[in-house]
Amino acid sequence: MTDTPAFDVQAVRDHFPALSRRVDGRPLAFLDGPAGTQVPHECIDGIVAYLETSNANLHGAFLTSHETDAMMDEVHAAAADFLGAADGSEITFGANMTTLTFAVSRAIGRTLTAGDEIVVTQLDHDGDVAPWLTMAEERGAVIRQVGIRPEDCTLDMDALEAALSPRTRLVAVTLASNAVGSIPPVARIAEMVHAAGAWLWVDAVHAGPHLPIDVAALGADFLICSPYKFFGPHLGLLWARRELLESLPAVKVRPAADDLPGRWETGTQSHEMLAGLLGTFRYLEWVGVSQGGASGEPGAADGRRRTRLKAAMTASRAYERSLIPPLISGLCSVPGLQIRGIVDPAHFDERCPTVSFTLGERHPRAIAEVLGQRGIFSWDGDNYAYELIRALGLAESGGMVRVGLVHYNTLDEIDRLVEALREIAAGR
Ligand SMILES: Cc1ncc(COP(=O)(O)O)c(C=O)c1O
Repeated sequence: MTDTPAFDVQAVRDHFPALSRRVDGRPLAFLDGPAGTQVPHECIDGIVAYLETSNANLHGAFLTSHETDAMMDEVHAAAADFLGAADGSEITFGANMTTLTFAVSRAIGRTLTAGDEIVVTQLDHDGDVAPWLTMAEERGAVIRQVGIRPEDCTLDMDALEAALSPRTRLVAVTLASNAVGSIPPVARIAEMVHAAGAWLWVDAVHAGPHLPIDVAALGADFLICSPYKFFGPHLGLLWARRELLESLPAVKVRPAADDLPGRWETGTQSHEMLAGLLGTFRYLEWVGVSQGGASGEPGAADGRRRTRLKAAMTASRAYERSLIPPLISGLCSVPGLQIRGIVDPAHFDERCPTVSFTLGERHPRAIAEVLGQRGIFSWDGDNYAYELIRALGLAESGGMVRVGLVHYNTLDEIDRLVEALREIAAGR
C-alpha cells in the first residue's frame, strides 16, 4: 500500500486525555495497547455521567432504574452494531474475556461426551486455551493443539486441517495474535470447521482495535472480545449465534430471566463501565464520520450506527496498515534485533502492527525498562501466549519485547522507538 490514508491522527489523539501527559517534559508513547488501550473522553464522561445521575439496579419502578434499563439496552445494541450482529439480544457482557470463556466453555462441556475433541492453537492467548483445557479435563474430552510455522509465526493451516475429525466439536482460534500480530484466515477456517461439523469459537480480543469485525462474514459461531482493548473500559463482551445462546445449558441463578441477553449475564453488571463503553462507541462513530467518510451523528441510535462503526474500523485499519512498513523496517534496522513474526512486506495484510522481538542476548525486561525510562511503554515476557513462546524456545530467556500500535499512535513514536533501540543496541 503506497497511498497515505487521510487519517487525522492529531484530531483522534485530541480525544484521549492520557495522550497529552508528559513526564520530565517528554511526551509518552503508549505502545502498550495490546495489554489495554487508553480511553477517549467520551468513555470517561459516560462513566462519570452515569454515576452522577443514573446509578441504580435494573427493572425498578423509578427514574434512575428506567434510565439504567435504557442504557443497558442501548449498549447491547451498540455492541451488536460494532460486531455486525443481528441485535443486542445476541450480546453478553461480563468481567473480561477469560471469565466469560470459562463460563461458556463449561456450558459447552455439559453437552460433550467422553472422547469428543476440542482444537486449540499455539497462536492463542492462554485465555483462549486454558478454559478449554480445564473443560476437557473435566469432561473427558480430547484436546488437539495446532502449531505455528516458526519461520513467520503464522498458524499452520495444514496442521489445522489434520487436527479436524468427525469427533471435533469446537475449534478455538484467535482472529489476531496478541503476541506477534499474525491474522489467521478465519473465514476459511470457519468453512473447514463447519465442514467437520464443529463450532468455531473466535477470540477477537486482540483484533478488536485493529480490524472491522463482521461475525456473519467470518462465519463464527461464537466471538469474544474485551472492550478495554478497543478504547473502552475493563469489560468482556461475547457474541454467539442466538440458537446457541438459547440452547446451551447456562449456569445461572434461579430467578434470573431465561431470555436473552440476561441468560448469560450472571449477577449485577458493571453498569458504569457499560455506560463508558457506550461513550467509546460514540467516539468510534465520530471516527467513522470524521475519518471514514460515514454520515450521521455519533450517538444517534439509528440503522446507520453499524455503518459508522464499520467505517471507523476500516479507516483505522488503513491508517494502522500504513504504519506497518515503517515500523518493521525501522525495527529491522536495529543491529541484532530479531522480529518473530511476519516481516515480508508481501504478507503485511496478514498482520497488524503488533510486533515482538529480541535484541541480542539482552533480557527483554531490561529493554522494556530502558524504553519505559524514556517514556516509551512496551511489554515484555510471554504476554500469556505461553504455547507460542514455548514453541519459539524463548520461555527460559524472558520471552520477547512487544510493541503494539493502534490508531492513536504516530510515525513520530515509531522514530522515537527505533532511535531508543539503536542506542540500547549500541550499549548507550
Ligand atoms: C488475544 C487475547 N485473548 C484473550 C485475552 C484475555 O482477555 P481478558 O483480559 O479480557 O480476559 C487477551 C488479553 O490480553 C488477549 O490479548
